[in-house]
Amino acid sequence: MKNTFSFQKIYSSILVLLLICSSSPAQNNTMLQLIPQPVTVAPMSGSFTLTAASSIAYDGVESRFAAEMFAQKINLPTGYSIMPREGTDGSIRFMLFEKKNQQIGTEGYVLEVLPGGISISANNSAGLLYGMQTLLQLLPKEIEGKIVSTIDWTVPAVRIIDYPRFKWRGIMLDVSRNFFSKQDVKSYIDQIVRYKYNIFHWHLSDDHGWRIEIKSLPKLTTVGAWRVERAGAFGSRTDPLPGEKATVGGFYTQDDIKEIVQFARQRNVTIVPEIDLPGHSMAAIASYPELSCKKDPGTMVNPGTHFAEWYGNGTFKMFIENTLNPSDENVYGFIEKVFSEVAALFPGPYIHVGGDECYKGYWAQDTGCIALMKRLNIRHVEDLQGYFMNRVEKILKAKGKKMLGWDEILEGGISPDATVMSWRGVRGGIEAARTGHDVVMTPTTFSYLDYNQGDQTVDPPIYAALRVKKSYSFEPVPDGVDAKYILGGQGNLWTEQIPNLRAAEYMSYPRAWALAEVYWSPKEKREWGNFSRRMEMHFTRAEAADINYSRASYDAIIKTAMKNDTIILTMDKELSDLDIYYTIDDTMPDDHSLRYTNAVALPNGPVTLRAITYRNGKPIGHLITLKQDELQKRAGK
Ligand code: ACM
Repeated sequence: MKNTFSFQKIYSSILVLLLICSSSPAQNNTMLQLIPQPVTVAPMSGSFTLTAASSIAYDGVESRFAAEMFAQKINLPTGYSIMPREGTDGSIRFMLFEKKNQQIGTEGYVLEVLPGGISISANNSAGLLYGMQTLLQLLPKEIEGKIVSTIDWTVPAVRIIDYPRFKWRGIMLDVSRNFFSKQDVKSYIDQIVRYKYNIFHWHLSDDHGWRIEIKSLPKLTTVGAWRVERAGAFGSRTDPLPGEKATVGGFYTQDDIKEIVQFARQRNVTIVPEIDLPGHSMAAIASYPELSCKKDPGTMVNPGTHFAEWYGNGTFKMFIENTLNPSDENVYGFIEKVFSEVAALFPGPYIHVGGDECYKGYWAQDTGCIALMKRLNIRHVEDLQGYFMNRVEKILKAKGKKMLGWDEILEGGISPDATVMSWRGVRGGIEAARTGHDVVMTPTTFSYLDYNQGDQTVDPPIYAALRVKKSYSFEPVPDGVDAKYILGGQGNLWTEQIPNLRAAEYMSYPRAWALAEVYWSPKEKREWGNFSRRMEMHFTRAEAADINYSRASYDAIIKTAMKNDTIILTMDKELSDLDIYYTIDDTMPDDHSLRYTNAVALPNGPVTLRAITYRNGKPIGHLITLKQDELQKRAGK
């Protein structure tokens, strides 16, 4: 007995020693629960405790904002009233390196937490902001709260050296399909900077609403920002009636835009405005019908009707014209006016001009377009888009801006200065990089945040699915591509099915956290099991912050296949320590039901599957109920 006891003691001492001495940052970070994972994490002994007597110092104008933002974030939940002071003396210090630290670049930081004080050092204000975000994540989750908590505000001692893998770490928000208020946009930007995103791609125009005030074209917002009220899923709504009042929508005034640009800039976020051309322009055409080929004065901003037919191979037909007329010089005059004002409002180098999903059917019928093709010796109407995009690029260049577009802009031939956003898989990105374009990787298969995260019968159904584990597995630099052309990547949140900020949060998280790690952290540090544990800790932080997120990771992943005439059921899970219990006898499943281990041949007949996940004897996932027709459908029958 005595011997056993001392053996256990030695064994556990070794285990503790191993844990403390572990040089693997991945393991260390499991204890620290940081997302995205820093480059190096060196735990040290002891901890720092924030108290009402703590002080915050910053060493100059550039470090002031980070210090003030930190004070603002901590004063509410702690109930303290710490006022940052200029100087180098304080228990929490924000400082710029006097001599540039070569390792960390323009966005990196060094964070040192010692029992006697905390320092965040960086080459630039951006690094201080990121160091500050990391420090917030090191504090207990109650720091995210909006009420005062009386707990010990302890931070473990640690030295972190951190910098991003990619310089483009973006999230796109579509504010056309549904309008998001100025306050919502600011809240969303504030949420993504917690995870060290630095690009906010703002999809400001589309068929369902024009959202930016253009003073020289007032109808874009008096008409183009408003649609008739309709309920139901996009693509199934009824047409506007002639003369029906358009009451749903909104837009940002130029003052709103300036305020949001400034808000973002303070947080090291560059806003990339997108005006989607020449397709996706129904709101512009509703405002100025003369910009289109048919010039139909009855065109209205679309409320989400079934206006297109897709043929499965990427081709489609538009029942309503939504394309600007490339043969009309007045269209380029319109674009010149729009981009003059857009360029003046957004200080960043890029303007996104869309270029995606442009239907050419109306061009093919238009006498002006036919004459233009003849003059340019263009044989295929598809190639007119190249002519159009090149004209647009010239307009942008004259304003000192770089053109960015979806990967379709490659199709008609575009100058190598254009940057390409690869969304139809990574194919476009590979081709663009091979021909010397800068590329932002944002393939549907890994980064479309509007897709379903879990089972289609649990969440409102969407035409495609993308689980957080898949997003986390994304590698933005494809094999054989020179990494210098890959600026980074993005998550895209299209909002047809997203009417408000709460729903936007639900769709964004946790996938935007997974992508944040893909775009920031070293590739070799990524490991799903480790990330998923940190992800769960961030669920609790999101709850404290009252930010919504999806719990689809807790649900069973249910697939079927047909073998002869039998349905073969397979179930999987994203979190390894879950158990899946199920029934096929029309009873409610619990942890006394069948425990799933291997593929099951379901009995013939009108069987209903009910499955639920448990962890440590407690139900944790949604109950998923699939009737026989759904089980057969999944098997492709
Ligand atoms: C896109 O998803 N149409 C770029």
